[in-house]
Amino acid sequence: MRRFVAILILAISRIGHRVLSVHGRFRNRNFETATLKWWLQPIPDVQFTKFPPIDDFMNGPIAWYHGRFIHQRRVEVLSRHLADLIVPDASVLDVGCGDGLLSARLQQLRPDLSVSGIDVLVRPDAKIEVVEFDGKTIPIAKDGVDVVLMVDVLHHTDVPGDMLKEAARVSKKQVIIKDHYLQGFAAHQTLSMMDNVGNTRHGVEIPCNYQTPEQWTQLYQASGLQVAEMRNQLGLYLPPLNWFFERSLHFIASLEERTKS
Ligand SMILES: C[S@@+](CC[C@H](N)C(=O)[O-])C[C@H]1O[C@@H](n2cnc3c(N)ncnc32)[C@H](O)[C@@H]1O
Repeated sequence: MRRFVAILILAISRIGHRVLSVHGRFRNRNFETATLKWWLQPIPDVQFTKFPPIDDFMNGPIAWYHGRFIHQRRVEVLSRHLADLIVPDASVLDVGCGDGLLSARLQQLRPDLSVSGIDVLVRPDAKIEVVEFDGKTIPIAKDGVDVVLMVDVLHHTDVPGDMLKEAARVSKKQVIIKDHYLQGFAAHQTLSMMDNVGNTRHGVEIPCNYQTPEQWTQLYQASGLQVAEMRNQLGLYLPPLNWFFERSLHFIASLEERTKS
């Protein structure tokens, strides 16, 4: 029975995957080539130590739905929060900017800002200019920018505290992070599922380095930062998705140097 269910899910996901990608909705050539190769490979013998059809399903129709609806709403909601939080006339460095959509929208909402991006993985279709860096040392002098943004980036790094210290070093006025709280029912499973759906197809590392609220506080302190403003209810999802994926799993923290108060 389990084998039958597994093969059924795999077959459905492949059909969905094929229909969506063949009709070009992903608009990403690399992804479509990968999709085609994936479609053509033989159906594997299902091993029950792992449950591969779930991964396939995540990267098919669910990935399409995520890209088409969830990500667009996320960009709009987060860019409005950020536009509201960032100090006037600032130079902003978006560390781990990904596809750059968020920064591009932020720049539209706040023309007084000057936004640039760096990332370990430069996407060919990025909406802003992105400079590649090693993911450890931000290639900017101390106090070299007014504001550092890190939106859903720190849980992708091997040592979040080190990257936060780097952000504190190069920023003159503000460090703003959007990240996850490891708290509540099945938080790790929920977050890692969201991470996989949103990132696997872009080749982003997913170490699932989620922190509890207490661990975040320790990381701020170790970086010489303190919370200037905290937002916990962001409105990233509409009901009923917010019952599962929003809860108290997301936050935006606007941080400043501890000596500033
Ligand atoms: C979930 S995506 C977020 C992208 C973008 N900030 C956004 O909100 O749309 C995570 C990003 O972090 C980047 N990343 C992973 N490890 C990193 C590191 N050590 N330093 C900087 N960026 C990193 C990935 O390449 C990816 O673009």
